[in-house]
Amino acid sequence: MRSFRRILVTGGAGFIGSHVVRHLVRKYPSIQIINLDKLTYAGNLENLTDIESATNYHFEKACITNEEQIARIFSKYAPDAIIHLAAESHVDRSIHSPLDFVRTNTVGTVNLLNQARLLWNGEFDDKIFYQVSTDEVYGSLGPSGYFTEWTPYDPRSPYSASKAGADHLVNAYHHTFGLPVIISNCSNNYGPYQFPEKLIPLIINNIKLGRQLPVYGDGTNVRDWLYVQDHVEAIDLVAHGGNLGHTYNVGGHNEHQNIELVHLLCDIMDEQLGEKVGTSRQLIEFVQDRPGHDQRYAIDAEKIRVELGWEPQTHVKEGLSLTVAWYMQQQEWLEHVTSGAYKAYYDAMYKAAAND
Ligand code: NAD
Ligand code: TYD
Repeated sequence: MRSFRRILVTGGAGFIGSHVVRHLVRKYPSIQIINLDKLTYAGNLENLTDIESATNYHFEKACITNEEQIARIFSKYAPDAIIHLAAESHVDRSIHSPLDFVRTNTVGTVNLLNQARLLWNGEFDDKIFYQVSTDEVYGSLGPSGYFTEWTPYDPRSPYSASKAGADHLVNAYHHTFGLPVIISNCSNNYGPYQFPEKLIPLIINNIKLGRQLPVYGDGTNVRDWLYVQDHVEAIDLVAHGGNLGHTYNVGGHNEHQNIELVHLLCDIMDEQLGEKVGTSRQLIEFVQDRPGHDQRYAIDAEKIRVELGWEPQTHVKEGLSLTVAWYMQQQEWLEHVTSGAYKAYYDAMYKAAAND
């Protein structure tokens, strides 16, 4: 088991990053936790108000592509662990602006790798560069089979290609320079604080607003859903006990077709809103498919179970109910994140579905 004194988390103001930061700040009061984030549209310090005054929490606003900023922050805190989550993370946006994704996800990762190498200068004991990646790098599955750690990379969207490029560079720094790295590739996360451009919070928010629910194509695409806190537990375990140079797949064994998931969400929303079951389903609209839409993702998470004892703990019905309840209570948070800029993006993206 590695032990750390200072953990730097990139992208700690985003969805998964804010859960990681909260978890680490609370669980390890004697470890300094540094949250480095550019605060893009997806990064929001309101996600962390409950821990922002903790004495072991520090925030630095910086861009991972900026050499000077990263060098200054690395030298100020001298982190012994870097948990790298900062990214442009939405596939639809990557189709409109691929270069932004390559800059942040690929070039930004190389900048962090370079700065970690300079900082640690060959002293690698109890050090780790942990790349938090996605199962989307493996491409798209047919109706059967699973992604394992040995599945060849076959990314098919600019988002997944930019993450795959970053993963290859992380491994290259391990093999070429001996940098102590680990990668985990996780399936689709859901839970509180997810920006409402992603499927689950978008559906919840649209039902609240009485908007149509855009389902791409015929709705048969399959995703493997994992409650965010289960991913956070996996990240903690991998950071402390994962083998250097290894990859760990993390997934929920929880596959659903998009249309099934939307039905489930509609029914939970009806229940929590006190509406007749079936009311929200009437808002569903099948819209034009996403270009290059991957058909199915499914993770084989056997390696992390056997080596580190990790298994998902949250059943999808429980996780979705918790998530819906959280979004129902967070009107102010939703209003803040769905600012004017987001509205313009939404209207351009979902011309067919936006009705205001
Ligand atoms: P997110 O979009 O909610 O958050 C990304 C965060 O990164 C934001 O706080 C943003 O401000 C920050 N950021 C973006 N560009 C930056 C830059 N140039 N410099 C510094 N900070 C920057 O993303 P998320 O869903 O929380 O995903 C976090 C990580 O986990 C990503 O690397 C993503 O690829 C990976 N991942 C996500 C999922 C998922 O289902 N959401 C699944 C597997 C892996
Ligand atoms: P998303 O949350 O964007 O995650 P990813 O594309 O990274 O898997 O989308 C999840 C699935 O839901 C994906 O198959 C695309 C589909 N989808 C819709 O049908 N409608 C929507 O409005 C969105 C955002 C996604």
